[in-house]
Amino acid sequence: MDLKQYVSEVQDWPKEGVNFKDITTIMDNGEAYKYATDQIVSYAKNKQVDVVVGPEARGFIIGCPVSYAMGIGFAPVRKEGKLPREVIRYEYDLEYGSNVLTMHRDAIKPGQRVLITDDLLATGGTIEAAIHLVESLGGIVVGIAFLIELKYLHGIDKLEGYDVVSLISYD
Ligand code: PRP
Repeated sequence: MDLKQYVSEVQDWPKEGVNFKDITTIMDNGEAYKYATDQIVSYAKNKQVDVVVGPEARGFIIGCPVSYAMGIGFAPVRKEGKLPREVIRYEYDLEYGSNVLTMHRDAIKPGQRVLITDDLLATGGTIEAAIHLVESLGGIVVGIAFLIELKYLHGIDKLEGYDVVSLISYD
């Protein structure tokens, strides 16, 4: 299946000059959404994954069906102030300002093998933060799966040494 044909490209959204990749047209197609999920599950199959991790909000859309299909848990990475119990936090720079992501301190046990999922690899800042959080808790990142990679932003350069797959890419 050519998944790319189910992505909607929206010019000048959310601001001028951006060609936004809208994945809701994959999600609302049962066959395409299942196909994308199955592709990630088969990528992860032999990695002895213990838990799936994904950053809000669209990382949940990709990661939760994968964890369900694999019969394992899902641990959310969330913006600050959203998780109710004790968290660890990681702050990283954006083009303007900074962002904080958090995880529950008990979400990953030391030595657990983790698959990180997200819808999109752009600059790589979000996924780098997710990796940092998982590794701070003693998790081992055994795979990273994206629905889409924007190759022209070179986020992959931040993921050297990790096992990464992207189902769709834009040069
Ligand atoms: C988007 C996307 C990725 C991230 C990729 O999330 O879902 O998580 O940006 O960008 P990066 O590689 O440059 O970090 P966003 O922050 O828009 O949050 P949302 O999913 O809650 O809309």
